[in-house]
Amino acid sequence: MSDDADFELTPLYRIHAFGCMTQRPPAHPRGSCGTAGAPPLWERLGQLIEKHQLPDVAFTAAGCMGFCAAGPLMVVYPEGIWYRPTTPDDIDEIVDSHFRNGRRVDRLIVVPQRR
Ligand code: FES
Repeated sequence: MSDDADFELTPLYRIHAFGCMTQRPPAHPRGSCGTAGAPPLWERLGQLIEKHQLPDVAFTAAGCMGFCAAGPLMVVYPEGIWYRPTTPDDIDEIVDSHFRNGRRVDRLIVVPQRR
């Protein structure tokens, strides 16, 4: 790490997506992305990134991101877009449209609310 404020940081990835994997018991009052069906969706996402050979796209399984009742949730950087996919087709669309062609999928975007 340099002390020089002029150094440039080269992004490692063009897109870095984080998907919440937190699993709480089904009756938990906060809910959870795991209970809402996240794990197979993120598994599919990872498989598609690999299938389409997108080395500049990364997916990281993450812990709770604080908006549990809205899950399953993923957030995509650098834009900071939050998606709520619920089906394999939703995942396919995010990969095809956003990750491969740079067009966000508006119908799956959510704006989590801070309380
Ligand atoms: S459990 Fe997924 S955001 Fe909290």
